[in-house]
Amino acid sequence: MGTGALATGLVGQAAPLSGVSSALENKNERKQQFNMSGFAAPKLDKVRIGFVGLGNRGPAAVERMSYIEGVEIVALCDVIEDRVEKLQKMLESKGLPRAKSYTGSKDAWKKMCENPDIDFIYITTPWAWHTPMAVYAMEHGKHAASEVPAAKTIEECWQLVETSERTKKHFMMLENCCYDFFELLTLNMARQGFFGEIIHCEGAYNHDLLTGNFNKKKYSDMWRLSENQHRNGNLYPTHGLGPVCQVLNINRGDRMDYLTSMSSNDFQMAEMARQLAAKDDFYKEFATNHYRGNMNTTLVRTYKGRTIMIQHDVTSPRVYSRLHLISGTKGMASKYPDPRIATGHEWFKPEEMKELEMKYTPEIVSRIGAMAKKVGGHGGMDFMMDWRTIDCIRNGLPLDQNVYDAAMLSAIAPLSEKSVKNRSNSVDVPDFTNGSWKTNVPIELTLKGGGTTGVKELKKNDTSKQLGI
Ligand SMILES: NC(=O)c1ccc[n+]([C@@H]2O[C@H](COP(=O)([O-])OP(=O)(O)OC[C@H]3O[C@@H](n4cnc5c(N)ncnc54)[C@H](O)[C@@H]3O)[C@@H](O)[C@H]2O)c1
Repeated sequence: MGTGALATGLVGQAAPLSGVSSALENKNERKQQFNMSGFAAPKLDKVRIGFVGLGNRGPAAVERMSYIEGVEIVALCDVIEDRVEKLQKMLESKGLPRAKSYTGSKDAWKKMCENPDIDFIYITTPWAWHTPMAVYAMEHGKHAASEVPAAKTIEECWQLVETSERTKKHFMMLENCCYDFFELLTLNMARQGFFGEIIHCEGAYNHDLLTGNFNKKKYSDMWRLSENQHRNGNLYPTHGLGPVCQVLNINRGDRMDYLTSMSSNDFQMAEMARQLAAKDDFYKEFATNHYRGNMNTTLVRTYKGRTIMIQHDVTSPRVYSRLHLISGTKGMASKYPDPRIATGHEWFKPEEMKELEMKYTPEIVSRIGAMAKKVGGHGGMDFMMDWRTIDCIRNGLPLDQNVYDAAMLSAIAPLSEKSVKNRSNSVDVPDFTNGSWKTNVPIELTLKGGGTTGVKELKKNDTSKQLGI
């Protein structure tokens, strides 16, 4: 699988609807080269990071990392020079050394990955670049992490798995929602048997981004609108799905078996594109009828007979929700609109919720939660994720989220596209672990072997305000 596969990712924004090559769809007969689940790389006291993609998301990641002991921000890359320069100024204003700049072309990131003085490449670019950049980084001896989703096609998912196994480099998809407070609390409760046997979970990304997607200035080259124009399914499944997959121990005792996916029609995007194009020629290329159905509902059945429902609606005027519903033989939890837990017909009262929180708060939250809220990033979960990741790398611990999780969670998008296109017929979910899910151990919920990474006292700049985003 060489450059041809990479090219699939690069042209992905205009890729055909399914994007799935049948030969690569299910490699369950493939032999795992090396099990990256539970893999611990040699300890790195200092973690030298190169960041690529400094638009809406990247600058905040750079800032968060600047607070973490042992981190050196050594390289910054974006095609737009001005974005790199703004981040250099941010580093200077914090009394940190300037990083090496990589900019000016769509290929500058390759030079960054080739630099031997970098340990970890942190990718916050549009989706089509995640896999090509991560693969290249691992091939050049770096651990890599990318924003969600890690891959756009099943072929890319396998590329990530095969490269990580062969190079023995970590690849982590930065699923920050796994580090939100209620998600961590309920994961710990599930682990300790509070909900009994888990029967069913729900997750979602219901977030009204309709006007944002059409905003000329929000996403570089209108990449996000383009994704919504050329694909039809659940394009962004991982925020709702990541935390419930941890609750269900997917890839670590259970695995996804098959899914079925259904989309509504588009009632909003083509209409908005038409209205905008009538006033502004810039939108003419977007005035088509090929938009993603506004609401997608996907159902997954696991090998052990549990079910997951995942929704995706990023255009309807709805209140933000990731659902986060857990239902077991002894109780349930549900996060939206408010975190609630029950073991029968009534929700627990606020004082009972407090008691549960005291009893089940996991160690990472007790240790770093308050600091994470101060540093910020979606209420603190982003910082908790970054801190934990660096602490694992520095202490030579397995990462909480490995390449199999990244592949499985990302695969939902192309598999849902395939099912939607085929009257919601069921589609098998590939086993990216090639059978090792049966013996892989659940993620560690304590800080055992780590927890040694401090948080620096730095002047906090509000990067988002500074950069006008
Ligand atoms: N986890 C979360 O909560 C969360 C939140 C927001 C965005 N995201 C994800 O973050 C990623 C980035 O989103 P965004 O809103 O910042 O997008 P954006 O368009 O604002 O930023 C992307 C940046 O990448 C740069 N870029 C594009 N191609 C490049 C290349 N070849 N080399 C170097 N730089 C390149 C662009 O110039 C731009 O600055 C997406 O994957 C998105 O889904 C995640």
